Amino acid sequence: MKTERLIMSSEREKSELLLREMGESLNLSHDNPYLFVRTGLIAKLFFYKELYEIIESVPGSIVEVGSWFGQSSILFENIRAILEPFNYSRKIVSFDTFNGYKETSGLNIGSDEILKYQVGDDWLDLLGKIQGAHKSINNSVSRFENVSGDIRETIPKYLEENSEPIALVYYDIATYETLKFTFSTLMPYISKGGVFVFDDYGYQYEGVNKFIIEHGINKNYRLVHSKYYKSKVYLVVS
Ligand SMILES: C[S@@+](CC[C@H](N)C(=O)[O-])C[C@H]1O[C@@H](n2cnc3c(N)ncnc32)[C@H](O)[C@@H]1O
Repeated sequence: MKTERLIMSSEREKSELLLREMGESLNLSHDNPYLFVRTGLIAKLFFYKELYEIIESVPGSIVEVGSWFGQSSILFENIRAILEPFNYSRKIVSFDTFNGYKETSGLNIGSDEILKYQVGDDWLDLLGKIQGAHKSINNSVSRFENVSGDIRETIPKYLEENSEPIALVYYDIATYETLKFTFSTLMPYISKGGVFVFDDYGYQYEGVNKFIIEHGINKNYRLVHSKYYKSKVYLVVS
């Protein structure tokens, strides 16, 4: 079985490449990005807005588990600046090894896909600069934290030092072991009305499915498909 991005026809692959190449060579992407952005990315933005609207009145941090380049932190910061510019209490926390997968239990991905998650040694510095620029544009006092290392070590340490409510957990690693760990460790911190997101849902994500069934998540919580991005599923803590 293959993950979502690998279920792709060669026609689609060619079209994506064409858009990427034209975006780069015509030098238009900066001011006219929507000429080249594909549906999946627009759906992702809508999905984040959907999530943010649910947690707008819920106190607590926004936590992404598996953040890759940290793109979600920028989306959440910008949606925050639009929806709640005067909420100075939000913290946006990104957890990743910033060096790829440590184990792949129940996740059937190829080594080429695994390698693309190694972001490079200087990425944390660069991400800090990108986050700083967005903060400055938004005239914002949001606090970003980028926590590097295996979440099975970094999350407990982080919680020891930061015992505070969480409004949103965006889980995006898709291995059985990390999902089991994240769910049991972070659920007690999620405020009532807060959200836990399973970014990868579908038959191809064996580890995610196994966890959901084995732990009765589909029986004990109402799982919801995103209105805009059907393979994204979340639950609201009641
Ligand atoms: C699918 S990517 C996340 C994509 C990201 N959420 C986005 O929207 O751009 C999965 C990420 O999980 C990270 N990862 C895998 N195993 C991990 C672990 N045990 N601890 C921390 N991060 C891990 C990988 O480095 C990778 O960047």
